[in-house]
Amino acid sequence: MKVFHTIADFRAARAGVPEPLGLVPTMGALHAGHLSLVQRARDECPTVAMSIFVNPTQFGPHEDLSRYPRPLERDLQLAQDGGVDLVFNPSADEMYPSRFSTHVEVGGPALRWEGERRPGHFSGVATVVAKLFTIVSPQRAYFGQKDFQQLAVVRRMVADLNLPVDVIGCPTIREADGLALSSRNVYLSEDDRPFATALHNALAEGRRRLASGERDGEAIRDAMERVLLDTPGVSVDYAAVVDPHTLEPLTRIEGPAHGLIAARLGPVRLIDNQPLH
Ligand code: PAJ
Repeated sequence: MKVFHTIADFRAARAGVPEPLGLVPTMGALHAGHLSLVQRARDECPTVAMSIFVNPTQFGPHEDLSRYPRPLERDLQLAQDGGVDLVFNPSADEMYPSRFSTHVEVGGPALRWEGERRPGHFSGVATVVAKLFTIVSPQRAYFGQKDFQQLAVVRRMVADLNLPVDVIGCPTIREADGLALSSRNVYLSEDDRPFATALHNALAEGRRRLASGERDGEAIRDAMERVLLDTPGVSVDYAAVVDPHTLEPLTRIEGPAHGLIAARLGPVRLIDNQPLH
């Protein structure tokens, strides 16, 4: 495995590697969720690249940029063991030199939910992903369904800008009790941790309601929210039943429906989602 910190060095190494090249973009603090993307890329591509970059432009002023975990040595070991060939690990200055002034603004699926609560977040994500695609030139890029709205935003951007990359969405990896793996789970206190299953339980409740014949999106949403409200220490940011393509809320469910949840446990904000059908 080779590790590069500059765009020029990465590009020089990228030229001439066996193709297709699969890219797994990450912010590091790797866990089994990230490694499942690497595994999928390995299954499909002779060359696998991973980016490790804590992207400052996708963090809001009151978010956790400065304390986001950065265990680089450990990440490189995990990437190597997982079968990554090339790592791109630039500095913030390498990606955003002083006169940087271009941003990718996605509308549509970026507007609601996380987009509303975290102004500028998806602009930061779309901008860095567009840059990573240009620097790395992957034929395929692997993203987790864990960040369902992010996946929809990246797909929208790739279609709208005609970027020659196949975006592949991969299943969410969970703890045994259903909590979706996340780099932020390490911030959960021992007391709060058992209640973090509430997000998964709420989505399961949404699935049950739909399976038992409920077709009123608002009623299913309320039932999901009730599970969260009934869990000690959990405060609800949003619970929603949406169209999986547009991410618009569904009132009457006639086709595919997707549950989205964001909730806080103490200082930790967690998101989760699942198809309800
Ligand atoms: P990060 O949070 O590090 O996640 C990197 C990739 O891992 C994303 O595609 C995310 O959806 C996926 N992932 C996270 N948890 C997962 C889980 N439990 N199961 C499966 N996949 C999981 O998402 C980002 O970084 C950034 O926004 C990025 C796309 C790198 C742009 O900066």
